[in-house]
Amino acid sequence: MQAKPSQKDVSIRRARPEDAAVCGQICYEAFHKINTDHGFAPELPHAGIAVGLLSTLFSHSGFWCVVAEQNGRIVGSNCLDERSAVFGIGPITVDPGVQNHGVGKRLMQAVLDRSAERNVPSVRLLQSAFHNRSLSLYTKLGFQTREPMSVMQGPPLKSSLDGCTVRTAGLGDLDAANRVCERVHGHNRSGELADAIATGAAQVVERQGRITGYASEMAFFGHAVGESNLDLQALIAAANGFGGPGILVPTRNAELFRWCLEKGLRVVHPMTLMTIGLYNEPAGAYLPSVLY
Ligand SMILES: CC(C)(COP(=O)(O)OP(=O)(O)OC[C@H]1O[C@@H](n2cnc3c(N)ncnc32)[C@H](O)[C@@H]1OP(=O)(O)O)[C@@H](O)C(=O)NCCC(=O)NCCS
Repeated sequence: MQAKPSQKDVSIRRARPEDAAVCGQICYEAFHKINTDHGFAPELPHAGIAVGLLSTLFSHSGFWCVVAEQNGRIVGSNCLDERSAVFGIGPITVDPGVQNHGVGKRLMQAVLDRSAERNVPSVRLLQSAFHNRSLSLYTKLGFQTREPMSVMQGPPLKSSLDGCTVRTAGLGDLDAANRVCERVHGHNRSGELADAIATGAAQVVERQGRITGYASEMAFFGHAVGESNLDLQALIAAANGFGGPGILVPTRNAELFRWCLEKGLRVVHPMTLMTIGLYNEPAGAYLPSVLY
């Protein structure tokens, strides 16, 4: 039986790429346990996906990642996405054998301290709505609940909408896409969007020859922004699939949510957007990523 950590034998350090194997296993087991305990499908279907994800994040210069060690053994990790003006947190996971003993709080405090040092106006995350512990922890650390989200999955629609052209985004689209995001959210997500354009995952939607929305990727780790619901509907309709557990649809956007339901998508998981710092009520349509 593993010793429960006391605050004094837990230390936090910067994650290294070679930590991904251990941290990925913990990440897989932590999400598997919390989800299956509540009757939900695991977000990460096997440990290899978690290892691959954390390998990417631990070696990406735009992410600042940390591990927690108990007497020299890794017991958890957390990541801070620093690619854009607003930072996003996650995935945070703690070894199920040592949860609820303060390790998660230390991992969260580390990325919040880092965000304060970097003077960011806002830090955000998505929380599993059924998880009482993370909701309580984040609220005590200063996060405010902003929006209920529905993770949705289903067969791709592979269709188009009248008057909307959806195409793969190129670097030349970055400024116009950033302007849409700035109009809707008050800030852009240029770092993430540039990464997505480089992999070929990003799509833009045009109406009357003008970019009116984009998706960095139609996936759990991607976000989308549009001047109107029509722009998001066109992006969703054109997608070849919905990556990972699904896309995050703001539940209070009843028009878009209902349209997704009518098109055959199903709700797989409830989540909550939480923020610290500046937050503008979005002035348009959007889908957050699992980071924000
Ligand atoms: C979420 C997670 C990272 C938190 O880490 P942890 O080490 O278990 O959490 P901590 O012990 O640091 O903090 C839990 C806090 O919530 C409190 N808490 C737990 N359950 C609670 C409840 N039902 N109501 C109120 N408070 C509660 C604890 O008392 C503690 O607060 P305190 O330090 O002020 O006493 C960890 O549980 C985990 O890996 N879960 C599975 C994966 C996951 O859900 N990740 C987050 C995705 S959003």
